[in-house]
Amino acid sequence: MDFSYNNVSSLLVENLGSVVELVDAPHSKCGTFGYVGSSPTAPTLMNTYSRFNISFKKGKGCWLWDQKGKKYLDSVAGIATCTLGHSDRVLRKKLSDQLKKIQHISNLYRIEEQEKLSKSLTKQSCAESVFFCNSGAEANESAIKLIKKYGNKTFPDKECFILAAESSFHGRTLATLSATGQPKYQEGFEPMVKGFKFFKYNDISSVKKLFKELKENQQKVSGILIEPIQGEGGVIPGDKVFFKELREICNQSNSLLILDEVQSGVGRTGKMWGYENLEIEPDGFTLAKGLGGGHPIGALLVQKKANIFSPGDHASTFGGNPFACSAALTVLEEISRRKILNNVYQRGNQLKEGFIKISAKFPNIINGIRGLGLIQGLVINDSYTDAKTITLKAFEKGLLLVPARGNVVRFVPPLIISRNEINILLKKLDLIFKEL
Ligand SMILES: Cc1ncc(COP(=O)(O)O)c(C=O)c1O
Repeated sequence: MDFSYNNVSSLLVENLGSVVELVDAPHSKCGTFGYVGSSPTAPTLMNTYSRFNISFKKGKGCWLWDQKGKKYLDSVAGIATCTLGHSDRVLRKKLSDQLKKIQHISNLYRIEEQEKLSKSLTKQSCAESVFFCNSGAEANESAIKLIKKYGNKTFPDKECFILAAESSFHGRTLATLSATGQPKYQEGFEPMVKGFKFFKYNDISSVKKLFKELKENQQKVSGILIEPIQGEGGVIPGDKVFFKELREICNQSNSLLILDEVQSGVGRTGKMWGYENLEIEPDGFTLAKGLGGGHPIGALLVQKKANIFSPGDHASTFGGNPFACSAALTVLEEISRRKILNNVYQRGNQLKEGFIKISAKFPNIINGIRGLGLIQGLVINDSYTDAKTITLKAFEKGLLLVPARGNVVRFVPPLIISRNEINILLKKLDLIFKEL
């Protein structure tokens, strides 16, 4: 089989059927994107991802280059991860200095970079304390354990439940999968971890209904785990009134409100933390993706009420090692030094204005526009086409996009994207819609 670029495009198009599963591409359930079976380039890799048959050789800022030198504008950013773009000069320098100094020790000892990072994170947020780990799922797993401990402590004689939202995405470990309100990810891995119940996102009556049912059964809600904006679930911003009521209900019932900010945190929405858009403070929140600017790090941050872990409760060998913390510290410093939040806000508005113009031109294709800052989604009209087709067309035109649930094309570029690059993105998009 010829794996040359031209052939790749046609093979991608031939296999459209599975791209709809490319919601958070590495989490795809379907193994038929691009090639049926395992990755054509590496049969020694386990067949867990449906990959594009392409590898990038170089990255700079918001751009990636493939083996043939073709250039792509990256509006995926490692799925909302490469905050400072690719090969950032400052990050490169800081990490290279860090490697010369010390890379990994152990949480058996004090880690200077970890302490510095926790100070910076708590200074900039409502939290007073941080636990570091390596990924989003691990951060949420920590949150779930914390909520369970809180429930057992606060309501010792009651059966406790954790509430989560339908169409949420919290990760792929067994507990985070159990908290994920999308049965398609759970299929084949039953039984799920017990103790989760689901309500409709942004629908307070369905939350109240659950509370009422549990009360009638002498059961309690230990906590709620929820995204301030659903990313993989279809780029659905949280409703302010809903979240305020959620906060109130949690206060009244003495339950924890923990936000999954794995995708929304660290400036993605134009505010440092997604919860700032909702004008509430959670009892805790989780981070990962954007925190390390492309380097694996996750975190659970808590306020006093939820600061209940004691030695031995939880741990991670790599969690918060000097290298990962140095990456995160640099990301935070650069966000502040380069006033990146302003950029996210302005570029987000520019993107949205561009989308409004494009959707006025193609009203039969685009059903809606939603998002905050630089997490934006175009809702595609099912009866016209689908997000997977647009993603593939964009790929051919040198624009990287990622679909989300509900026939949504998701835009999560590096937070440093420029005015000119947004214009290029919009032009490419316009062309894609013209040619559909
Ligand atoms: C909101 C949210 N939570 C958790 C996760 C899982 O993160 P990870 O893939 O780093 O485990 C994701 C990943 O897409 C996410 O978007």
